[in-house]
This record gives sequence, C-alpha cells and structure tokens, in this order.
Amino acid sequence: MTKKRIFSGIQPSGNLHIGNYLGAIANWVKMQDEFESIFCVVDMHAITVPQDPEVLRQKTIEVAKIYLASGIDPQKSSLFIQSHVPEHAELCWILNTITQNGDLTKMTQFKSKAGIQFDLEDFEKSLTDLQNNPHPYFDDENTDTDINKVIKLSRDVAYETAREFIKKFIAKFNSSGVGLFDYPVLMAADIILYDTQTVPVGEDQLQHIELARDLAKRFNSKFGETFVVPEFFIKKEGMRIMGLDDPSKKMSKSASSEYNYIAFSDSEEIIRKKIRKAVTDSGSEIVYRDEKPALKNLINIYSLLADKKTSEIETMYAGKGYGDFKNDLAEIVVNFMKPMQERISGLSDEKVLEILREGAEKIRPIAKKKLDEVKEKIGFIV
Ligand code: TYM
Repeated sequence: MTKKRIFSGIQPSGNLHIGNYLGAIANWVKMQDEFESIFCVVDMHAITVPQDPEVLRQKTIEVAKIYLASGIDPQKSSLFIQSHVPEHAELCWILNTITQNGDLTKMTQFKSKAGIQFDLEDFEKSLTDLQNNPHPYFDDENTDTDINKVIKLSRDVAYETAREFIKKFIAKFNSSGVGLFDYPVLMAADIILYDTQTVPVGEDQLQHIELARDLAKRFNSKFGETFVVPEFFIKKEGMRIMGLDDPSKKMSKSASSEYNYIAFSDSEEIIRKKIRKAVTDSGSEIVYRDEKPALKNLINIYSLLADKKTSEIETMYAGKGYGDFKNDLAEIVVNFMKPMQERISGLSDEKVLEILREGAEKIRPIAKKKLDEVKEKIGFIV
C-alpha cells in the first residue's frame, strides 16, 4: 500500500521558537515513518516582508539545521528549499487566475501583517444597524426631536464612519505588498503541487489550508480532476503555544519583545530568565484551567516537553507555588534545548546545503509532472 503524503514548511524569518517546534516540527518527526514526508524551508514566503539578503541565506540553512537536529531524517523525508523548485512559483501564478481578491482580503494573517485589523464584515454590520436604527440618537430629554432630524443625523454619522473606515482601509491596503496579499496562494501551490493528503501545522495556518482546499476544488471543477484536496493535521495540545509575555496572543517569531518566545538560539541563562519573567495569573495554585491562561500555557509546554499529562503535573505541584513550578519548567526547557543546540552546531552549512540540494533534486520531478498536467489542462503548449 502506498503511504499517504504530508507536506509542511516554515519561513526562515525571525527566531524559530518552541511554539514552532511543539506546533509543527515535533509532529513531523513522529509522522515521517508513517507518511511520505516533504518538508520545505519557505524562503519565497519569507520575502513577503523585507529581509536582509545575507541574514535570509543564514536563516534558511538554520531552519534546515533545526529540522535535522529535531530528528527529521533525510533518508525518510524530503527536505528542500522552496526557491530551488520554481514550479511552486509557476503554479502560484496559475492559481492566482482562479483566486478572487475577496479570498485574500479575509485572511487574518494578511490583515494583521498589513495592519488592517478592523473587520470589514463587522463594520458593514454596524453600519447597517446604524442605518436601520436611528434610535440611539434619541434620549429622554430629546423625545420631541423631529424624527427627520434624527434620521439625518444618524445618516451623517454613518456617512462619516464609512468615509473614515474606507480612507483608513485604502491607505493601509495601498501601502501593503502584493506578495503579502498573495502569500496564501503560494502556500496553496506548495501544498497541492505534490498531491498532499495531509498538512501538519499549528492552528494559525488553518485558514490558509482552507484556501488550498478551495483552490484545489475550484481547479478540479473548472479543468477536470487534477489535484488532491488536502486535509490539515493539528495536535490539540501544541497547536497554539501562547506568548510568555502575553497569554492572549500566540508565541510569534515576529513578536516585538524577545520575552514573548523561547528561541532555538537562546542561551541557558536567557531561557531561565525568560521563564522566570513569564507572566502568571492571580492566585498561587498550579492548576490547568481556562481562567488561568498564562499558567495553562506554561503547563502545556511542560506537559509536551516532559511527556506528562497536565493532570499529573497538577498533582505533582499540589501545595507548591509558582517558584518551584517555574524552576522545574526552566530545567525541562534547558534539558530539551541544550542537546538540540549541540546537534545544530554539529551540522556544517555545506553538509546541510548538500542535503537540501539533493532533496530538491529528488522532489522536482514530482512537481514538474503535476505542473505539466496543469499546463496541459489550461491550454498551454507543453
Ligand atoms: P510559520 O513559519 O509562521 O510557522 C511554522 C509552523 O509553526 C506553527 N506555529 C505555531 N504552532 C503552535 N504555536 C505557535 N505559537 C506557533 N507559531 C507558529 C505554524 O502553524 C506552522 O505550522 N505559512 C506558513 C509556512 C508555509 C506552509 C506552507 C506550511 C508555507 N507554505 C505549506 C504548511 C504547508 C507559515 O508562515 O508558518
């Protein structure tokens, strides 16, 4: 029986952190025996925001080293750099022609990276409410106000609100990059180019995978059965590791404070300091509850790295406080990171680049075959 295929990737930008490991890489390592696995360093995605060329080159190799040090085995899995297989960009272009702008304006990641946080649908709803319902402008002292005046006033307010919103939206949209906007289409191309069945990722990528599914279906219905419609794989416990400085936001490579994440590049001293400084909730009990999001996040990290159930951790720390818990967590994170960092520094750039080039060579015929099929179907002369 042929194995199912998985595909996933990470951008070589910012500092890779334990969220990337627990949400993605750790699952890949476990899945590589059961699945035909393709893992990519997505440098073309990274350039959708400005990058220093030399740093980008270093980070690309560094990400591949982290894959290898985590246990991705190039004998079992294909490992390559996205830009080494130009079929990704070619398929992206073709998929652009069946993608609507509206498919992309709704993408949460685009909106947050472009600074367009306000939601168009929310805005439309509040505007409709305002138009249908001028009553907020009545108050008790004003009940004899001429109804026409009130309607006019609410229309004026609605008009001003709309004008301000549209002005702000257009300014932000116009100053954001086309690459950033198109990012999810390139990601869809990455995935469906290989007839990927399953995409193991963290929760933040689900909306992008939904688009990959839509585009695969859209292409199939327009041009005949061509692409496998991919599923996602997320593991509940690690799917959303939150920031250590703010448990309401996910741990992120591009966070403004380095106290947000524990990076693969952090020294033992820094790791201990970051965990000591990690925000906690009120109360002193070590319990795994939604009302204690900061502690819940720390227990999650503990549980995944130490392979212990969260209930077990609660029992272990009954009667103890944050101090003991944080000291032990720091120990666990350091014990995970240290050997990982030793393996990373034991890998030479040349060796890693050789593995990546071999990976691209191995994988490219699959990409080319699929792209030729696509070109044939859409009417290109192959
Ligand atoms: P990227 O580089 O932002 O993140 C890489 C992987 O790490 C996961 N992740 C997290 N998981 C749990 N908690 C967190 N705080 C956390 N932060 C990040 C992400 O979900 C992701 O799995 N667009 C992708 C890269 C990409 C891709 C692809 C992925 C490009 N093409 C095709 C899969 C398939 C991205 O920016 O991931």
